[in-house]
Amino acid sequence: MADMQHIPNVKMSAQGVNVLYGEKQAIRDVSIEVDLENVTALIGPSGCGKSTFLRTLNRMNDTVSGARVEGRITLDGDDIYGADMDVVQLRARVGMVFQKPNPFPKSIYENVAYGPRIHGLAHGKADLDEIVEKSLRRAGLWDEVKDRLHESGTALSGGQQQRLCIGRAIAVEPEVILMDEPCSALDPIATARIEELILDLRGNYAIVIVTHNMQQAARVSQHTAFFHLGRLVEQGPTTEIFTNPREERTKDYITGRYG
Ligand SMILES: Nc1ncnc2c1ncn2[C@@H]1O[C@H](COP(=O)(O)OP(=O)(O)OP(=O)(O)O)[C@@H](O)[C@H]1O
Ligand SMILES: [Mg+2]
Repeated sequence: MADMQHIPNVKMSAQGVNVLYGEKQAIRDVSIEVDLENVTALIGPSGCGKSTFLRTLNRMNDTVSGARVEGRITLDGDDIYGADMDVVQLRARVGMVFQKPNPFPKSIYENVAYGPRIHGLAHGKADLDEIVEKSLRRAGLWDEVKDRLHESGTALSGGQQQRLCIGRAIAVEPEVILMDEPCSALDPIATARIEELILDLRGNYAIVIVTHNMQQAARVSQHTAFFHLGRLVEQGPTTEIFTNPREERTKDYITGRYG
């Protein structure tokens, strides 16, 4: 595609992706690559298909009845819709953080320990304890919860719950983390912490974030893709998309003329 810039160290690649909900086409011919060096932001007006597209990257659309995905999406070159792809494994490799923090109604410890346990990543209790600590440190939450690991995850503040969800995703050693408006339920201070965390995690994980907040996209991402009516209208380095968009529709959106 003329629109695509070459990105080294491609982690995931989507080529010519369509998504249909029954008869209704929500995504049309979308191609994008995501890598470890750049946080990728997906922006665009409500209903343009950002969440739908994000969900194709770890096959969360499989759980939506009537949803159909066409085109090719690869992780390290392997077709994630291929017959030999293990979907449970895929979702561990491509983790997801949602708009509304959704900790399990279990202890803080259990929220993080659950994934490594079912994926057989821990060899005994001491090992599991270490994974839990490491994941919570990475998520920037350890100091706040280390003395209350056996309290319920749902008793944390919204921002802490969201960092717990990020820690939970990290615990299974993902390669890619998808975030769908991860700060929209949070106050500005909690939002700033998540943004710092995203910047910290960059380089270790390929990160794709959907956001309605233009300032946030500018702060945390290096690559931005603008969606409109199910199409990827324009993508490129974030600074370019925000300062010098090529398409009129992108310009209108980022200057707040519609959205
Ligand atoms: N489960 C579903 N069944 C049928 N149609 C759906 C489903 N989920 C989304 N859609 C439709 O697909 C289109 C894209 O929706 P999507 O949720 O991906 O948009 P979005 O860009 O994430 O919007 P928002 O910014 O409001 O979250 C919309 O027209 C929506 O109504
Ligand atoms: Mg959405």
